Amino acid sequence: MNDVLSYLDSHREQQLTELQELLSIASVSTDPDRAADVRSCASWLEAHLLRIGMPTVRVYDTDGHPIVYAEDLRAGAKKPTVLFYGHYDVQPVDPIDLWSAPPFSPTIRDNKIYARGATDDKGQVFLHIKAIEAMLAVDGSLPVNVKMIIEGEEEIGSPNLAPFVASHTDLLSCNCIVVSDTSMFAPGIPSLVYGLRGLCYVQIDVQGPNRDLHSGSYGGAVQNPLNALVTILASLKDEHGHVQIEGFYDNVLPLDDEERASLAALGYSDERLLKDVNVKELFGEQGFTTIERLGARPTLDVNGMVGGFTGEGAKTVLPARAMAKVSMRLVPHQSYEDITKKITAHIHRVAPPGVTVTVTDLHGADPVIVPRSTPAMHAAVRALEETFNERCRFAREGGSIPVVLLFDTVLRSPTVLMGFGLNNENAHSPDEHFDLGNFYAGMKAAVRFYTYAAEMV
Ligand code: BES
Ligand code: ZN
Repeated sequence: MNDVLSYLDSHREQQLTELQELLSIASVSTDPDRAADVRSCASWLEAHLLRIGMPTVRVYDTDGHPIVYAEDLRAGAKKPTVLFYGHYDVQPVDPIDLWSAPPFSPTIRDNKIYARGATDDKGQVFLHIKAIEAMLAVDGSLPVNVKMIIEGEEEIGSPNLAPFVASHTDLLSCNCIVVSDTSMFAPGIPSLVYGLRGLCYVQIDVQGPNRDLHSGSYGGAVQNPLNALVTILASLKDEHGHVQIEGFYDNVLPLDDEERASLAALGYSDERLLKDVNVKELFGEQGFTTIERLGARPTLDVNGMVGGFTGEGAKTVLPARAMAKVSMRLVPHQSYEDITKKITAHIHRVAPPGVTVTVTDLHGADPVIVPRSTPAMHAAVRALEETFNERCRFAREGGSIPVVLLFDTVLRSPTVLMGFGLNNENAHSPDEHFDLGNFYAGMKAAVRFYTYAAEMV
């Protein structure tokens, strides 16, 4: 293994150049105008995986964006099989003017690489590819059978992955799954994430009069869709951060004392968060600590809203329509389907008269908890602790990865969430970046993980 690790060290320049190439492809899955870029990203990965010596590489077409699949089963039936999952699609770049450099022209500053997708998730996918390349180049073989599935629709809720996984259970069968699409606990402190929240994302459209109206001639006689929309939005949460949708908390798995204690023992720093985001105080559901609110409690957020006049100066107008995008993070045992029904019913119940309100389900994911004491987890702990020389923490994170629950239920193999991102690397926001120290350390941790996974029983 030492030769493999040295190979990684001596190829840093090349790894970086290649990562820059991958990051310059604008694979924004939600934007129909970027479909060709998404496809070219899949082709880039296909060519790259062949180049590093993966014996089988395929690109599967779906009703949406393609799925890249690769395997090397030459370790043989006596060795375990590890399935790697990652995504090559990225979030939209807007607001574009807040980026210091163009999002698809990767730049390096302070040992960090800046580009959309740098930490979420291309950089983290690529470190596994480079780890595998190193093992193939130095040893000529992999310590375990490896299957890789890299999808192009994670950021839009993986709509076409579910049917693919369900109809390819033999292809994907494995002893464990490894995903690097989460964060480390803090700089220098590795973590294995054992819980991810689910998501329920809806769009609310409010239609009023047939055209924008003069607010002097019509205001007072016709319902204003923006006023109606804010009435609806304000009804969703109270001032203590509790969601007011009927039945919202019905199935929420309460935190038991033991888990509260273990989360508290992680020593999460509110001060660091305050500084990081530059706010005077934190806010969240009353009665819970920050780490509990972030990983183990559900939330509701307005992601954006549009309507009416937003230009310079003042214009007296009663707008014809308004729209808001609202998402909820879910925890075990809430379900995306159930919560979608509940919020839809709530919105229609509180909708003021005089407007037509439409609720559209955009996408979602169910929450998941993965087992903490599997052989794969032990291999990951060992790999992380050796790489970072620091005790590995077990944490729950607030984001969602829709496929993790699917793997659990359909493939029935345990997942290891071994992430190398940092929470303040601006995933989904301007100036997204990935720490190059973690990029290089992640490759070594990956090599160690595949190596120790060979000993799984
Ligand atoms: N990498 C994230 C998931 C994540 C974020 C895990 C933060 C842990 C902490 C992933 O790519 C992502 O952003 N997923 C979306 C899923 C959604 C669109 C269904 C998310 O969480 O918003
Ligand atoms: Zn991601």
